[in-house]
Amino acid sequence: DWTMKAFRDEAIERIRAQVGQSRVICGLSGGVDSAVAAVLIHEAIGDQLTCVFVDHGLLRMAEAKKVVALFRDSYNIPLVHVDAEETFLGALAGVSDPEVKRKTIGRLFIEVFEAEAKKIGGAEFLAQGTLYPDVIESVSFTGGPSVTIKSHHNVGGLPERMNMKLVEPLRELFKDEVRALGRELGLPEAFVGRHPFPGPGLAIRIPGEVTKEKCDILRLADEIYLEEIRRAGLYDDIWQAFAVLLPVRTVGVMGDGRTYDYVCGLRAVTSVDGMTADFYPFDMRFVGHVATRIINEVRGINRVVYDVTSKPPGTIEWE
Ligand code: XMP
Repeated sequence: DWTMKAFRDEAIERIRAQVGQSRVICGLSGGVDSAVAAVLIHEAIGDQLTCVFVDHGLLRMAEAKKVVALFRDSYNIPLVHVDAEETFLGALAGVSDPEVKRKTIGRLFIEVFEAEAKKIGGAEFLAQGTLYPDVIESVSFTGGPSVTIKSHHNVGGLPERMNMKLVEPLRELFKDEVRALGRELGLPEAFVGRHPFPGPGLAIRIPGEVTKEKCDILRLADEIYLEEIRRAGLYDDIWQAFAVLLPVRTVGVMGDGRTYDYVCGLRAVTSVDGMTADFYPFDMRFVGHVATRIINEVRGINRVVYDVTSKPPGTIEWE
């Protein structure tokens, strides 16, 4: 694709001009955007780049392994894997306000990046895979008074003061363009086609307080849901699908016993750019099959509901 080839060459020149001889830290989330940003920046400045993958305990199942494998094994890009689960979950204890969650996570991400920057002798820049829709949605809501819907940034909500300057080479692009650029850069198709995953991770899919126990329950339900979506051949028709764990328990019956467990919400949407979205019209037999599997296999969940809200008026994530 000649346009992406041109974009790639220009972006590389711009990155070199911005960064000079300085060192850059790039936060990898496991998503397409940060991966594409990292590979692009690596082409531009080589080993002036260090990638940092933060496992905040809010990741999907086996996510850390997949990302480390892609970057260390296929790309040979230096990658630091930081296990920060206790720090993040500790800071989130007792927090249920969505914006406080996002800002807490954003602040901790920056603290981790700054600590890693120090370890490599200082880095003047922090790179992120921020896209155009992220920029728009975290700044204002078009058409009305300036209201922040969510503090989106790759890491959640960025703190007002930070020591590093941002490098955001994808700021003008939409998701489909980032995928085209990823292909141009030779990223594996399975990676380029991945559903988006937000920087704040499972924290914004667990309304109310986030705990390790809830994260573990949600991870398993989410894994079953996605496994069934892939098996049904629907993964590529869907922009994004994920499970949500509601802070509500309901009564059920299993065998001869009463259960009193959490409700799991299933979300799947189609979208072109994430700015608007329609709920995905699954065959209800498929949803029923997934629900049965989740309730049978995930201890802690005894009821499953399907979210039929489009965006607007809903957002894709629940927080
Ligand atoms: P919403 O929920 O605002 O989401 O309709 C639109 C798209 O953005 C993703 N999203 C984020 N991505 N950091 C990210 O990197 C964030 O803080 C964040 N919040 C939402 C969301 O998954 C969807 O694809």
